Amino acid sequence: GGADEAGMMLADFLRLQKRLTGTKIVCAEGDCGACSVLRLPPIFKSGEKNTRFVAINSCITTVAQMDGSSLVTVDALASPSSDRAELKLSVVQQSMVNEHGSQCGFCTPGFVIAITGLVEKKLCEGKKSGSCTPKEAKNCMTGNLCRCTGYQPIIDAAVKVDLSKCESLTKRFSNPTQSKALLKNSGIPILFKNDRFSFYAPTKLTDAVKYFSKNKNARLIGGGTDLGVVHNKGKLELTHLISLHLIPELYEIKKTAKFIRVGARVNLAEVRRITKKSIPEFSKFLDLFASPQIKNVATLVGNIGNASPIADTPPFLLAANAILHVQGLRGKRKIRLDQYYLGYRKTALKPGELIVSIEFEIPKKSEKLALYKASQRKDLDISCVNTAFRTRFSKKGKIEEIRIALGGVAATPIRLKKTETFLKGKVLNATDLNEAVSLLQSEINPLDDVRGSGKFRRALVTNLFLKYFRELNRVHPGESE
Ligand code: FES
Ligand code: FES
Repeated sequence: GGADEAGMMLADFLRLQKRLTGTKIVCAEGDCGACSVLRLPPIFKSGEKNTRFVAINSCITTVAQMDGSSLVTVDALASPSSDRAELKLSVVQQSMVNEHGSQCGFCTPGFVIAITGLVEKKLCEGKKSGSCTPKEAKNCMTGNLCRCTGYQPIIDAAVKVDLSKCESLTKRFSNPTQSKALLKNSGIPILFKNDRFSFYAPTKLTDAVKYFSKNKNARLIGGGTDLGVVHNKGKLELTHLISLHLIPELYEIKKTAKFIRVGARVNLAEVRRITKKSIPEFSKFLDLFASPQIKNVATLVGNIGNASPIADTPPFLLAANAILHVQGLRGKRKIRLDQYYLGYRKTALKPGELIVSIEFEIPKKSEKLALYKASQRKDLDISCVNTAFRTRFSKKGKIEEIRIALGGVAATPIRLKKTETFLKGKVLNATDLNEAVSLLQSEINPLDDVRGSGKFRRALVTNLFLKYFRELNRVHPGESE
C-alpha cells in the first residue's frame, strides 16, 4: 500500500481495508485489549531465536510500524474442519466456549489473542504438554477488560487449554519463503511519503542521524504506545515519523555482573526478562507499569525519550545511575540521566541527536532497592507519584550510599540530592528521619492535577519514604518516638 494506508492505525486498516472485523476497537488507547493481534517482529538473521508471535494492541500503532513484521489476527485462528461445512475453533477459542468465557463477545477476540500469546510462549519455550497456571493466565490478560462475563470463566478457559493439543503459530503460519522475504525486507530502508504522512525507516544509525538533523520536525517513534494514544485523542497528529526498527544494533543487550545496557529498540518485555533474576524489584515493577501487549512493543529508551515527568522507569533508572549513549552528527557522547532532564519535556539532547542505548547499574544483593508506584488503579495506570529508593548500609547499619529518585513531584523526574547528602553516614533514628522528611519536602514541588493534588502527592511521598525505612527495620529508637 501507499502512504495513506501506511499512516492508518493498524486496527482501522484491518477492519476497514482488509475487512478483518474480528479485531475490535473499544478504547483506542491501549487499555482494553479488544484490538489485540499477534505479531512476529522483524528478523535480521535467519534462524533467529527469541522471536515468536506476541500479542500487541493494534489500535495505537500505525501500519507503517508493522513493516517487516508478520501478523496473525483472530480471524485466522479457526481452521477449516474436515467436512468443510464450518470452521473448527482453535483450542483456545473452544476453551472459551466450554467455560462460558464470553457474553456480548466484544472483548472475546482480544482475550483469545492474549491467551494464544501465552500458549505460544509456552510452546516456544519447549513445553509440549500440561497447561498454564492461573497466575500465568491472569498475567497474560492484565491488558484486557471485559464488562460482562467476569474474569473467572476467562481465567478458567486459559487454564483448561491442553498444551499438547495446541500447534505453535510459528509452525502454522511461517514458512521458509515468507521468512526469506521478511529477512530480505529488514535489510531495505523504507520511505512512505505523501502530502499528509511521511514515514522513514533507515537501516543504518548514521542515516537516521542525518535525516533527523535535516528534518527537525520529524518525530522519532519507538513502540508508539505514547504517541499512538495522543494521536487517537486528537491532541497531536502523527504526520512526519522516523522509526529505528530496521537498525539491528539498536536491539543489542549487554549484560555484565555490574551493569546492563539496552539498545533503543529493546522492548520492556525483554527488559523484564533480562532483569528477572538480577533486579527482581524492577522486573516486577514493569508488570504494574504495562500490560503484555504494551510491554511487547514499548521500549525502555522510549520511556526516557518522551521526557514525561511521570514516566514509570526514570526513578529506578536515576537510582541505578543510568547513562544515556547518544549519537548526533558530531559523533557519540554520553549523558548521565540526572543531567538529561532540563525542564518540563525539555532534555539535554541537541537537535538531531538520538538515544542509542541506556546503561544502568545492577544493584548489589546487599543493597536495598524498593520501587513504589501510587496510582488510582493498581495495574497499568498513570502514576500519581512513583519512587525509587536504593541504599547501601554498612555492617553496623550506617547509610554508606543512598539514592532517592521520584516522579510526579516536579517538572521532571528528580533525585533528592540534599536529602541523600543528609542521610549519608547516618545510623538512622527517628529525629534524623523527621529532619530528612523536612528536607525531602523542600526538594519537591508537586502540582495539582487529575491524578492528585500537590498536597496529596507531598503526603504520599513522605509516607512511601517512611514505609521504605520501616519495612527495612532500619529506624533506631530516637528522641521523638
Ligand atoms: Fe482498547 Fe485497543 S481498542 S486497547
Ligand atoms: Fe461483553 Fe466481555 S463479554 S465485554
